[in-house]
Amino acid sequence: MPCIVVVGGQWGDEGKGKIVDHLTDRVQVVVRYQGGPNAGHTVVVGGKRFALRHLPSGILRPGVLSVIGNGVVLDPASLLEEIGSLKASGVRVDDNLRISDRAHVILPEHRTLDAESEEARGDARIGTTQRGIGPAYESKVARLGIRTGDLRNADRLRAKLEAYRAARFVRLSGPAAAHDPAKVLEDYLAFGEALDPYVADTVDLLHRRLDAEEGILFEGAQGTLLDLDHGTYPFVTSSNSTAGGACTGTGVGPAQITGVLGVFKAYSSRVGSGPFPTEQKEEVGDRIRERGREYGTVTGRPRRCGWFDAVLARYSVRVNSMRTAALTLCDVLDEFESIPVAVAHEYRGERLPTLPGDTEILSDCRPVYEVLPGWREVIREAKRFEELPHQCRAYVDRLEELIGCEIALVSVGPERERTLQRPGSRLEQWLPGPAGRA
Ligand code: GDP
Ligand code: IMO
Ligand code: MG
Repeated sequence: MPCIVVVGGQWGDEGKGKIVDHLTDRVQVVVRYQGGPNAGHTVVVGGKRFALRHLPSGILRPGVLSVIGNGVVLDPASLLEEIGSLKASGVRVDDNLRISDRAHVILPEHRTLDAESEEARGDARIGTTQRGIGPAYESKVARLGIRTGDLRNADRLRAKLEAYRAARFVRLSGPAAAHDPAKVLEDYLAFGEALDPYVADTVDLLHRRLDAEEGILFEGAQGTLLDLDHGTYPFVTSSNSTAGGACTGTGVGPAQITGVLGVFKAYSSRVGSGPFPTEQKEEVGDRIRERGREYGTVTGRPRRCGWFDAVLARYSVRVNSMRTAALTLCDVLDEFESIPVAVAHEYRGERLPTLPGDTEILSDCRPVYEVLPGWREVIREAKRFEELPHQCRAYVDRLEELIGCEIALVSVGPERERTLQRPGSRLEQWLPGPAGRA
């Protein structure tokens, strides 16, 4: 049965939520494997726009089980708010959501530390979402973390909170140390009670579902170039957003993964600091931003925009074993007369073979562009790939060649149904189903 990882190929916000939602009628389970409320996955269904932070996009498809895996760090207050607001808009959550008992929780101290450490970095700040993601993963790695399974036992929770504070704040004072421990304990016990109906051994649950031959989608958050190991370190997030994270973040082993689907925008965007060789700071960047409504789903920050970078995309294809991909936001390029694509990076007169480990080199390199003709036509109403203007199809074909991976899906609007599947693609074999037949 299909076990497909959906992973962002750039710096996040590629439209993963939209693509996962489009595919949820072909599987029984959707699982998030890393990240936390730094993610903002927008899904538009029936004219309604949902911005999901913790919850897998499967939550919007009745009958599909949504799982928050052990690799996620979750903020209980924000998760409960998210659940509450979905329920208020008529989405059925209770029977359809399970949260790993091993997922770590974000504490108020983590959020404060995130803000403090950004402040301390000054001009070298990462531009985090300030949701406490980095400090929560730090606690996990330091073996001081608190997991959802700890929230129902007052004695254990008190001891763990004390141990965390003793280790973390032994020589520190300041805002993060100033949170009242008694209040944190009280709040987190209450969160534990509210989350209790959802908390489960999701490793066992997922394996039972696999044994029952159910199909699973793994919904990545962030993107390959924000991966802690494989991204543009240190301007990255604190988890493994690449496909490998799907195994460690859920307890499903690598041999059970049947494929990796990459999601790429037809151009590039980045929010926060760090190198971005094809960034367009002037009029072109503004035009892309306005047409693509490129403002952060979580923070509202304007996203930096630029052209598609085929060198970095090819790297993403490699490190994730992507064999098929979705190209999103193609309609944003409707108006452009010509569309440059970076096909090489030059550094001090030499072409770089791949993404360099040294981020400073990437900051100083110069992209070499191939300029493709635009289509200058509105494409959002297209119902089949063949209906797209030939320049648009040629753009997709050329990107496919440059990145070395099939592009099976082309997205021409934010709505679930504005997704065109190319006939005969590998995705059709991987995930046959109602949408595949459409
Ligand atoms: P994610 O984090 O990867 O799920 O992506 P985001 O939701 O943060 O950002 C993608 C944005 O593009 C959202 O506002 C989507 O509604 C929107 N979107 C997704 N696909 C398309 C598309 O094909 N065309 C247009 N115009 N918007 C899209
Ligand atoms: P989705 O899942 C885009 C960026 C932040 C910052 C860096 C580290 O919606 O694609 P963090 O708060 O994780 O410590 O911030 O990563 N970032 C994202 N950018 N999309 C996201 O998620 C992101 N999550 C984090 O802007 O540069
Ligand atoms: Mg997003």
